[in-house]
Amino acid sequence: MVTAALPYANGPVHIGHLAGVYVPADIFVRYLRLRGRDVVFIGGSDEHGVPITIQARKEGISPQDVVDRYHSLIKDSFERFGISFDVYSRTTSAIQRQTASDFFKKLYDKGLFVEKENEQYYDEEAHQFLADRYIIGTCPHCHNERAYGDQCEQCGTSLNATDLMNPHSALSGSVPVLRLTKHWYLPLDRYESFLREWILEGHKEWKSNVYGQCKSWLDTGLQPRAVTRDLDWGIPVPVEGAEGKVLYVWFDAPIGYISNTRERLPDTWEDYWKSEDTCLVHFIGKDNIVFHCIIFPAMLKAEGSYILPENVPANEFLNLENDKISTSRNWAVWLHEYLTDFPGKEDVLRYVLTANAPETKDNNFTWKDFQDRNNNELVAIYGNFINRAMVLTQKYFSGKVPECGALTDFDKATIAEIATIRGNVENALENYRFREALKEAMNLARVGNKYLADTEPWKLIKTDEQRTGVILNISLQLAANIALLLEPFLPFSSAKLKAMLRLPAASWEQIGDTNLLPVRHQLNEPALLFEKIEDAAIEKQLQRLADIKIANEKQAYQAEPAKNDICYEDFSAMDIRIGTILEAVKVPKTDKLMKLLVDTGIDKRTIVSGIAQHFTAEDLKGKQVSVLVNLAPRTLKGIESQGMLLLAEDADGKLVFVTPEKAVVNGVAVK
Ligand code: 2FM
Ligand code: ZN
Repeated sequence: MVTAALPYANGPVHIGHLAGVYVPADIFVRYLRLRGRDVVFIGGSDEHGVPITIQARKEGISPQDVVDRYHSLIKDSFERFGISFDVYSRTTSAIQRQTASDFFKKLYDKGLFVEKENEQYYDEEAHQFLADRYIIGTCPHCHNERAYGDQCEQCGTSLNATDLMNPHSALSGSVPVLRLTKHWYLPLDRYESFLREWILEGHKEWKSNVYGQCKSWLDTGLQPRAVTRDLDWGIPVPVEGAEGKVLYVWFDAPIGYISNTRERLPDTWEDYWKSEDTCLVHFIGKDNIVFHCIIFPAMLKAEGSYILPENVPANEFLNLENDKISTSRNWAVWLHEYLTDFPGKEDVLRYVLTANAPETKDNNFTWKDFQDRNNNELVAIYGNFINRAMVLTQKYFSGKVPECGALTDFDKATIAEIATIRGNVENALENYRFREALKEAMNLARVGNKYLADTEPWKLIKTDEQRTGVILNISLQLAANIALLLEPFLPFSSAKLKAMLRLPAASWEQIGDTNLLPVRHQLNEPALLFEKIEDAAIEKQLQRLADIKIANEKQAYQAEPAKNDICYEDFSAMDIRIGTILEAVKVPKTDKLMKLLVDTGIDKRTIVSGIAQHFTAEDLKGKQVSVLVNLAPRTLKGIESQGMLLLAEDADGKLVFVTPEKAVVNGVAVK
């Protein structure tokens, strides 16, 4: 039973989702299927929770409209990238409502919840309790006036709604009042010793990032967690006295894995969730670790009839061009946009995201690396080997697999590599090391290239047709093995290659076999597996990101309030002239100061300016600038500065000169 985190249906999915969760999960299940294991791969959209209601308000539509739109978009993106779910359903389904309600009811009937009343903010105008995200106020740490009740996005501090100064409701703008409300809590503290034993003693093999996070939660001590919320979007709490309350989205969502299995396998789903023979694996990102390793297992344990996960191979995060991926800042490569911009290149992205997966630490996606890996690895190694084997066979043997005769030691050593590499790939995959597995699998294409380079069949054909046949037979068998070995990673290319080879159905267990293609078997016409990606395509993507950066800066920039009024005389007292910088040298033993010689049109004078971190001497020489020439001289680091240059600071803190729009004569006054 393999699950992949259910993404929130409040936005499209991006490369971070794919790299962190869906590609590794898909590689894993494709591998298991090829090995003939009985595997079910569960996905779906997470359609409840406060962010969806906020998105709906913003757009003036219903939460149902929001999730309908994004569920379809997300499902379609996954399908097109070959993420081979057995089911991709949604947490708003009827079966989920039933399953999650029953689950809650069972724990409730067993008396396992703790009921508690506490004070929460209530909006008397909107007549409802406010989720933390719906309360806006001043952050007590940085005084940002637009901090949310759960977090201040300016300084990054997590907050409680009651920490905010001057709180007001995002719904009506009114000042909320504290009111008592009842909720049901899962007493995680009571499961602490069980969890300690099960994880810290029983699962030392988990990835160190996962194990470490669990240990730190457990060492801090677990607290009871509310599993209900005052909200009108979600699964109603199925007990008396809970009107207007819904299940907390993190109680509901993991149960979605179970409901989606029930939807697909109504008669046998319990075999996958309640049998000790089943191995349950959750693929997630690092922000989901506590929910999958602590809270959900505690829920399953409390319920009593379910198995617990065998492993939770969570990944770290992927950054984009050295910046955190962010949906709200539009800083992402959206999958549906990639599919439009790079049609037919689904495997290229799968390849790059696996080769550079954030398995042990946060990693960075850059378009340059994407281009390099395509051109230097997929095209130059994998594609090149296949193309040469196919084209040579076409040319010398009319596209028919030639006879294989006596083998040399080099032939035998080359063939033996297949089994060794297969073993390495299996070992890496079964230990959730997908980058390493891919690198190993690609090594078989490297072996193929080396084999052709060393045996040079294009020369040999002139003197020894039979030996040329042996070499091409082996090369084609290698190609067939590569198609099988790379299938979990690059399913589209394997399908293309198998079609080109007209490879009869073969299983993973046959990898190592050198009779995958029978003698005299007719191949199809060769076609390129991968194409070079040109600079223009990459520049277009970089330009798009640069435009987004500028748009974000504009949005984030808050102009300072205007200063007090002055009279015209105050203004005209300032003598500002256009001048040209003649010389620039850094002032020794300072970081910021630059000593400039400026032609002001009146004279040539020295000005010391704090701009050394922004410009080099080369940038400055010959530049026309605005100079306040009647500022009283001041001595800086022993140098008398006679005036001041006018500069502006952009949203990023970068300095720019106030320069005339056209070159003018030095000494012209600004008025
Ligand atoms: O972090 C998220 O995107 C969540 N929607 C993941 C939920 S995983 C599971 F529990 F459904
Ligand atoms: Zn703050």
